[in-house]
Amino acid sequence: MNKRVRKAVFPAAGQGTRFLPATKVIPKEMLALVDKPIIQYGVEEAIASGIEHIIFVTGRGKSAMEDHFDISYELDATLEKKGKTDLLEMSRRISSMARISYVRQKEPLGLGHAVLCAQDLVGDEPFAVILPDDVIDAEVPCLKQMIDVFNQRGGSVLATQTVEGPAISAYGVLAGSQDPVNPRIYNCTGMIEKPKFEQAPSNQAIIGRYVLTPRVFELLEQTKPGAIGEIQLTDGIKSLLKEEKVFGYTFEGKRFDAGDKFGMLQATVEFALKRADIGPKFREYLTDLKF
Ligand code: G1P
Repeated sequence: MNKRVRKAVFPAAGQGTRFLPATKVIPKEMLALVDKPIIQYGVEEAIASGIEHIIFVTGRGKSAMEDHFDISYELDATLEKKGKTDLLEMSRRISSMARISYVRQKEPLGLGHAVLCAQDLVGDEPFAVILPDDVIDAEVPCLKQMIDVFNQRGGSVLATQTVEGPAISAYGVLAGSQDPVNPRIYNCTGMIEKPKFEQAPSNQAIIGRYVLTPRVFELLEQTKPGAIGEIQLTDGIKSLLKEEKVFGYTFEGKRFDAGDKFGMLQATVEFALKRADIGPKFREYLTDLKF
């Protein structure tokens, strides 16, 4: 078995109903955060973390995503003719970013099922999963931090964040204890998808970044529908935990839930403020706003 994490699976088959009407025709992954589609943030994070092969699990109506990472002859020719070399370079960079494969999830049977659709393309090697809705701003890419932990500890690694109060019910939640050596690591003993607040085993919520061993595919094949009637990735990893070590990892960085309107607005404001081109002007505008 290849031990290096070279491939990243991006489940991207969801319908994006939370963003209707914007997502009636446009895939939610293509909604712009400032001026870049949400999915591109995840792809750039994967590449900056050493990933060589991106696997998109898509569905009907997602062809804009495929086009985005493909060469656009017309656009490139126009930019070249107009001498817009910066934009031309950017357009070419997007289409040559990584090796990308696509596989379709024909029915919306859940996140665990979506990941299982990538089994043949991943094969018998450890791999990453990136949920593109979770956009993470970090100095060292979140996935890179996790791959480092995977390489040191040799077990699957799930990104985690502390979530206080009833909001925990929206997440997969870990049971276990903090590692005595590295306080960012959480030694898992169990996990549950979308528990009721009273039943949550901790305040450690799973965030959309995973480094998994390929054994999880076989276990997902046997995983029955769980929370909200779907085949859950959390349940597959819970089965993995009976055979292998699984770690939670409190990453350094800030996560935005771009799959949610409020999260998307927060990300838009913070990412815009950080930009050299529009940041100062935007800051001035916000400061002058009267509430
Ligand atoms: C998914 C996972 C959940 C995880 C969450 C992180 O849930 O099933 O375990 O905590 O992503 O964003 P979803 O947001 O798709 O309901």
